[in-house]
Amino acid sequence: MAAIPDSLSAAQPRADGAVNYDELIQQDRIHGSLYTSEAVYRDELQKIFYGGWVYVGHESEIPEPGQFVRRTIGEEPVLLVRTRDGRPTVLKNRCAHRANLVCMEDRGSARSFTCPYHGWVYGLDGKLLDVPYPNGFTRDRNQYGLPVLPLVDSYRGFIFASFNPDAGSLRDHLGNATRVIDRTIAMSPTGEIKLTAGWVKHKFQANWKMLPENDTDGYHVNFVHASFARVIRSQYDAAAMTAEQELKSRTIDWGNGHTEIDFAPAYPGELAWLGLPDASRYPDYVQAMEQAYGHERAHQLLHDGPPHTVIFPNLFLAEMNIVIFEPRGPNECVQWHTPLLLGGVSDAVNDRIMRQSEGALGPSAFLLADDGVISERQQIALRSGQAWLDLSRGEQREIVEADGSRIGHVTDETTNRGFWHHYRKVMTR
Ligand code: FES
Ligand SMILES: [Fe+2]
Repeated sequence: MAAIPDSLSAAQPRADGAVNYDELIQQDRIHGSLYTSEAVYRDELQKIFYGGWVYVGHESEIPEPGQFVRRTIGEEPVLLVRTRDGRPTVLKNRCAHRANLVCMEDRGSARSFTCPYHGWVYGLDGKLLDVPYPNGFTRDRNQYGLPVLPLVDSYRGFIFASFNPDAGSLRDHLGNATRVIDRTIAMSPTGEIKLTAGWVKHKFQANWKMLPENDTDGYHVNFVHASFARVIRSQYDAAAMTAEQELKSRTIDWGNGHTEIDFAPAYPGELAWLGLPDASRYPDYVQAMEQAYGHERAHQLLHDGPPHTVIFPNLFLAEMNIVIFEPRGPNECVQWHTPLLLGGVSDAVNDRIMRQSEGALGPSAFLLADDGVISERQQIALRSGQAWLDLSRGEQREIVEADGSRIGHVTDETTNRGFWHHYRKVMTR
């Protein structure tokens, strides 16, 4: 272990004023200031949220030209819009006149956007179309549009964007995660998913990185969610209630900061991921899956279920939910979630998915409240005193696969190490 003093009291600037990430992020431990430092947070906005690819939305949210959703990338308010020619585009939601939010609706359909302050009108492509009382404003209007993000690309309906024209290709960023998105989509017999149920947002007094880290941390389940496991039959039972050597789920570091808990090996039967003992309740779903994928693959999919995977930095494929992480400063973040509804299935199946989403993540749900409280307590402890966090668990028993992914025991910190390894790479670029 490197000789870094444990008394290190903050994110130590180097001689050139930059935070020394190589010191603060080691293979088996990280420094607590990474969760509390304002300097680190500002750096993350620049390098992660404005420098790389970030998830913004799904094609199903804006199926028709003129439809839009309001999102945030880092701290920048943006609009994901389908333009007249059918392309998704991402515009800054910031008036070119005196910087008001041009659009306050969370989603909708528009022919243009009119700023509520002095009425400047913008097209769906961000172009400034009209300025009220035009005689007083003689500047070139072409210089005053809503800025368009230089990179917008999608993978099978999942739309990502970047403020940085040199962020590289989306495929390179996603790497192994494309296969994970494929597994999500394969839960629909028609390959369609619909994020149309609306979003619930929860504000946490905790650093945003606790969300991706905790969401693929299999070690806490038996403790943080013990009450949940006791009162409700859930797909996590098998993962929560057994001795170490009996636990069959796995942690996976897919590379590029993408991490997963693979619950499939622990599921006792088909549709365990929907909290059901077997698939008998939805014979029409089973039949549609068999028709779409053939008998063997359909039953494999019905058994294995959707992935539980974080895609760096802000997307969580949370089985039958989609989750977005939004940073709000070193000590605050917002988690967005919506149920992942399937095309080609009966309303009964999608109703089940909705109820499960409400039970797990809704305003009066168990799982999210448990995780929210534990992360807020962690933030309090981190702010009160500087410390190192140990991430060594399971290092000695990780398996490296041919595709570069690393597999750990479900209780191992393989996923945390994978997150931080990539984080350090991005932050030291
Ligand atoms: S700030 Fe938007 S029109 Fe003035
Ligand atoms: Fe949790």
